[in-house]
Amino acid sequence: MSGIKVFSGSAHPQLARSICEHLGVPLGCARIIRFSNENIKVCIDENVREADVFLIQPSCPPVNDGLVELLIFIDALRYASARRITAVLPYFPYIRSDKKDEPRISITARLCADLLQTAGADRVLTLDLHAPQAQGFFRIPCDQLSAVPLLCQHLRSGDLSNTVVVAADVGEAKDAGRFAKHLGLPLAIVDKRRDGDDERARAVTLVGEVAGRRCLVVDDEVATGGTLFEAAEILRSHGAQEVTAAVVHPVLCGSAVARLDRSAVSRLLVTDSIPLPPEKRSPRIEVLSVAALLAAAIARIHEGRSVSELLG
Ligand code: R5P
Repeated sequence: MSGIKVFSGSAHPQLARSICEHLGVPLGCARIIRFSNENIKVCIDENVREADVFLIQPSCPPVNDGLVELLIFIDALRYASARRITAVLPYFPYIRSDKKDEPRISITARLCADLLQTAGADRVLTLDLHAPQAQGFFRIPCDQLSAVPLLCQHLRSGDLSNTVVVAADVGEAKDAGRFAKHLGLPLAIVDKRRDGDDERARAVTLVGEVAGRRCLVVDDEVATGGTLFEAAEILRSHGAQEVTAAVVHPVLCGSAVARLDRSAVSRLLVTDSIPLPPEKRSPRIEVLSVAALLAAAIARIHEGRSVSELLG
């Protein structure tokens, strides 16, 4: 594919390499240097003049470092005369900070959108935003893909008899409805509450019938796992036979993986939108790759073809 260049920040080089394999292009050469004063320098080691550049950098730990590195990388590409720069952010930084739901706080996901544009990004390609309307934070084109069809395709290859799809919280009900529609299954909803910033979720009510059924809990991300494990508990207490989960972004922070291994969730299907380092692996976790989906979207953006056909 000519005129296209794919670069990777330090967040997820494995995903970037896999995207390049699907596209049949080499990964772009760049060096990221970290100085002892914590300053970052990015050197683009090949010509990008007039190129259509895609820079892969999902948000993952260290989140703030990764964000600054991304901005510096875009700036370096801009000064190197790239014709167009697309920031490919399979997991968008600070995406849960997408509204002013208490006084005197920042809408940090919008700030990140502003920063990307200021750095020189021409477009954004992302996957399953926490709230789809966050696309409105951008004045540049923002293509939002979804891993839901990919997860459903995989789930369909297993046994889905006597299964009910469960939204892990009310905010997830719409997306869970998409899972239920794709899979032809009924839907139940867990009503979850959070108090303040302690990141502890409490499942308080269940809407729908789960007794004697196998439950598939779906969500956009699993971070501390509180939402998922609380949902699993309430489902088991209402007579669910088995609880499995399908979640797009495996943030899995703190002791989430250890808690998963002790939880009522017997299997967790996720994507590689975020890297899963060895300490975050578990026999209960199965990872599906979004590389082919992202590569297909990149090819279509480059060729000016429709991306919406990929949305399923
Ligand atoms: C919240 O609204 C999201 O859909 C997820 O349920 C939430 O981000 C998961 O966070 P945690 O795993 O920390 O409960």
